[in-house]
Amino acid sequence: MTCPLHRNPITAVEGPAVGVSIEHLSKNFGRLQALRDVSFAVEPGEIFVLMGPSGSGKSVLLKHIVGLEAPSDGRVLIEGRDATAEGTLENVRIAMVFQAGALFNSLSVYDNLALYPREHRLGTEAGIREKVMRALQILSLENTAHKFPSELSGGMKKRVAIARALVMEPQLMLYDEPTSELDPIMGATISEIIATLRDEYHVTSVVVSHDRELALGIADRVGILMDGSLVFLGAPAELHAPEDPRIANFFHPKIDLKNPRFKSLEA
Ligand SMILES: Nc1ncnc2c1ncn2[C@@H]1O[C@H](COP(=O)(O)OP(=O)(O)OP(=O)(O)O)[C@@H](O)[C@H]1O
Ligand SMILES: [Mg+2]
Repeated sequence: MTCPLHRNPITAVEGPAVGVSIEHLSKNFGRLQALRDVSFAVEPGEIFVLMGPSGSGKSVLLKHIVGLEAPSDGRVLIEGRDATAEGTLENVRIAMVFQAGALFNSLSVYDNLALYPREHRLGTEAGIREKVMRALQILSLENTAHKFPSELSGGMKKRVAIARALVMEPQLMLYDEPTSELDPIMGATISEIIATLRDEYHVTSVVVSHDRELALGIADRVGILMDGSLVFLGAPAELHAPEDPRIANFFHPKIDLKNPRFKSLEA
């Protein structure tokens, strides 16, 4: 199977690959400590997969990289510049695929994709149309161009969100659960797209995912967050037989069917 990006190459991404550095990042929401002294660097052009249980702080961390959250302590650097400083994010083309898609419900699929290139005057209307239709084709969405988000399934919305990110021709892509809600074949296609963006366009990617196949298949490095702390940072191969029992249990949870919780479901 060839990656659909090969059949429909997007225009070359402008600018060099971008590095991200997370330094002693902590985030509190009132009394809740969502992130605790997290440090790691994402190298330019690498795929960094962030995993961890629900509520461990993965989405909050991504939001710090795009400047949607400000650190309580520590900092996030993009190409060596503070993500919260004025001008930093304007200098780098960053696209984020949000967990729930974050599409504009009042706009058609086509207009959702065309919004960014139109606002940033990235070509003529005909040129933008070509880019939008190519991105829709890559995600097998050509028939949805005139539909509205409310008319799409959860998985289709997710694919539209990825297509919208591709149209931005980003140097840095952030994905929050890109393969959840997708069938296994589309999930594999998304993994291929992320890998092709790295291999042929040198796009740097930070991918939050519970998808073990994706993590072990395309990640250059993996980070695991638990309760706001980074408990693992290393190559995906190290996760085949993790020594840390917390990580082993995360990947291979033991289900105790004698647990009274399950008994109560039988009634
Ligand atoms: N804006 C906010 N205000 C208050 N608490 C928040 C806010 N955003 C996140 N939190 C809390 O921070 C913690 C981490 O949330 P986060 O969304 O990062 O989890 P997650 O690891 O992405 O989980 P999931 O896998 O379920 O998406 C949670 O306890 C959440 O309730
Ligand atoms: Mg999340």
